[in-house]
Amino acid sequence: MTSTTTSPAADTFLPEGGHPFHITPNEERCLRTQGARVAPSPVIAQAASFDEYVRQLMIPPAVMDLYRKAADLRMSPIEIEAMRKHLAPLAPGSNGLLRRIMLDKAERDDTHPPYIRVACTGRGTYDQWAVDHGHIDTLDDPYGDIGSPAVLEIWPAQHYSPIHSHGKTTGIVFCLAGQLDVMVYDRLAKDATKLALVTLTPGQCAWLTKTNFAVHKVYCPLDGGNGPTRPDYINNTDEFGASFHVYLNEDELTVQAYDESDTRDAFDYIDEITGEQRQFKTYSDLSWSILRRVLANTPLG
Ligand SMILES: [Fe+2]
Repeated sequence: MTSTTTSPAADTFLPEGGHPFHITPNEERCLRTQGARVAPSPVIAQAASFDEYVRQLMIPPAVMDLYRKAADLRMSPIEIEAMRKHLAPLAPGSNGLLRRIMLDKAERDDTHPPYIRVACTGRGTYDQWAVDHGHIDTLDDPYGDIGSPAVLEIWPAQHYSPIHSHGKTTGIVFCLAGQLDVMVYDRLAKDATKLALVTLTPGQCAWLTKTNFAVHKVYCPLDGGNGPTRPDYINNTDEFGASFHVYLNEDELTVQAYDESDTRDAFDYIDEITGEQRQFKTYSDLSWSILRRVLANTPLG
C-alpha cells in the first residue's frame, strides 16, 4: 500500500461532515482504510509491496491496457505554470482563460463548484474565447462536440464534481498534476453508500468498469484560499489538480447492445442541491488543440 492512498497530504482541507463528501474525520479514516484493503484495488500504481501487487492482479486487462498506454503522461512544468496563470484570481476583466470559463460555468450552474473539461478530440464550447480574449489569433472550427474518448479535466483547488455514473463504460482517471480525491459509491443515489476514498497523485490512476467503481465523485483537496468548500464555492488561488480520463464504450470492448445513458456521450448524476437524478451530455469546455496553443502563448515568469 502506498502512503498516498491512506492519508491526506498536509495541505488538504476536508471540513468535518461538510462538502464535498459529508463525512467526519473518523469516517474518512475508515473509508481510506477500505480503499487500501478492497480487492481489486481501486487505484493502479507501481506496487510497493506484495499485498499491493496482489490487490492489483484482478484489475481487468482492458483497464491495465489503458493505464499502461497512459503511464508516462505528465504535464510539463511549463504547462503547469501557464495553467496557473490562467487559473489565478486577478482583477475583473484581466482574468486568464481558465478562470473566465470557471466563473461563467459557476454562473450557469451553482449546484457544485465547476471543473473544466478539455476534449482531446473534437471541439469545446469555449474555444472561441481563446480568440476573443486575445490568447490566439484564429480558430478553425468553433463548434462543440460530445463524447470525446479522452478528456483532460482541470480541477481548481476545493472544486468537485457531483456524484455521477459512467454507465457501462470502461475507463481510467489518470492523475497528471496536483492531487485528487475520488470517493467510490455503491450506486447512483443521493443516499448511496460510500465504499472507499482514495487519493491520486501524478502517475496514479483510478479505474472503472460497469461492475467496478462506476459511480464516483472527484474532488481537488488542495488549498482553495476561501474557507470550507460548498456548492457555490469559487476558489481564490491558482492551485489545481489535473487528470486524464479515457472511457471506452461497451461496443468498443465487445459486440453488445447498449443505450446512450451507458456510453461516454452522457453520464447520469445526482443534483447536489435537489438530490434528483439528471443527465449530463458530455460537451467539453475547451479542446486540447486550442488550450495547448494558449498555454504556449502565455508569458511566464
Ligand atoms: Fe467521472
